[in-house]
Amino acid sequence: MRKQIAAANWKMNLTYQQGVALLQTMVSAEISLKENHIAVFAVPFPYLEMAVDTVQHKKNYFISAQNCSDKKSGAYTGEVSAEMLKSLTLDYCLVGHSERREYFGESNLMLADKVNLCLLNGITPIFCCGEALQTREQNKQNSFVENQLKQSLFHLSKDEILKIVIAYEPIWAIGTGKTASTEQAQEMHAYIRSVLKNQYGESFSDQISILYGGSVKAGNAKEIFASKDVDGGLVGGASLLASEFLEIIRALK
Ligand code: PGA
Repeated sequence: MRKQIAAANWKMNLTYQQGVALLQTMVSAEISLKENHIAVFAVPFPYLEMAVDTVQHKKNYFISAQNCSDKKSGAYTGEVSAEMLKSLTLDYCLVGHSERREYFGESNLMLADKVNLCLLNGITPIFCCGEALQTREQNKQNSFVENQLKQSLFHLSKDEILKIVIAYEPIWAIGTGKTASTEQAQEMHAYIRSVLKNQYGESFSDQISILYGGSVKAGNAKEIFASKDVDGGLVGGASLLASEFLEIIRALK
């Protein structure tokens, strides 16, 4: 059974004190997750250790970084390595969020290095992909996303690809209040799964969780997650409010 995942992406929001309060509310909430249901919180680097401590006794809650370096270690001022994340006992790391690609020039090939370093350190990469509005208007979204997957992931072995979570986030739906329709999301998720199937075979592609991201909120999560190939969501804005994100976790199928 595929893991169904509600992943919060706090981005560069909340002070430390606000972060502590939000996580404590999430931990003390009455919520019982099914065996294959997982909640992940991608918090800013300085909050990681606090976050790991806060959720450690809560079943199926995990902490994620929002990024890591594509370099192993050394003279890279301001960077944070996958090995450092591992030393904080982190389980997940976002890789290739569209904001990283767009504002920090992250290329598919650089992201392949980040994926490798995460795996080397036992961290599950949540690999983000997705097209801009212009690409969708030209109806080139499938080949665009396929290329992102090929260049960043398809050097991985079958065993390694099973350790990846994919998040499809159409850029035009991120933070805009515009969600892809359930049909558009399901269509792309099925396409991603077919690309994975061609490369790795059905028994592998069937096991990989593919999350949808882009203006997921309490009010639309259930409908989006209900689609066959949608295995939960990566949630920005709505993850900053405990009541919203709890509803999103409860919407996992
Ligand atoms: P949003 O962000 O939910 O605010 O659209 C999603 C994301 O960027 O991961």
